Amino acid sequence: MSETTKNNFNRAKAFCNFDAVYAPLLPTIKDVVMKHGDEITNTFYAELANDEVAAAIVSGRVEQLKVTHKQWMEELFNGEYGDAYFAQRYKIGETHVRAKIEPYFVEVITSFLRRKFAEVLSDNPKALEAALTILDLDAIIIIGAYHEDRMKRMSEVTGMNQALLERLMSFG
Ligand code: HEM
Repeated sequence: MSETTKNNFNRAKAFCNFDAVYAPLLPTIKDVVMKHGDEITNTFYAELANDEVAAAIVSGRVEQLKVTHKQWMEELFNGEYGDAYFAQRYKIGETHVRAKIEPYFVEVITSFLRRKFAEVLSDNPKALEAALTILDLDAIIIIGAYHEDRMKRMSEVTGMNQALLERLMSFG
């Protein structure tokens, strides 16, 4: 793993003062959101079933994946978002990369979850801000794992050092 995604995660947290403003709020809304955990997860899989490619990926293991994905959602509200949280979430990104799940699917499911969170937290704007922010931080990490995998593969194909490739592709 390069440091790119970790830096982006920490910058994104600092950008919105996450640790002070949102981290303490998240455990207080866990029960409210997780009351809808089954419904959200079932709809998540119903949405995936509408897509032929996604349906094939999850085929035969939907019930087991529902448990995994619901647990991931619950962990959004645990209140600790430091290095251990980052490392655990990055591994989840790597799992999806290894399983060759297009990042497009992670993005549309994240978008679906934003709509669901907006629905269940519609009467508490600050809680909704917190829930959407941690969802976006997780997306930064998971999508970051895809970016880093692409850079690694590009480096292998071209023989160019990964740090140099990152520098060439940056705007700096
Ligand atoms: C916000 C989006 C998503 C999150 C947060 C998420 C979360 C997770 C987590 C926590 C795991 C277990 C990781 C591990 O054991 O290391 C996992 C595994 C998996 N997810 Fe997702 N997931 C997301 C989207 C998707 C989508 C869209 C699909 C299918 C199109 C999918 C299919 C799978 C599969 C097949 C596995 C098992 C992979 C394997 O063990 O080979 N996930 N996911």
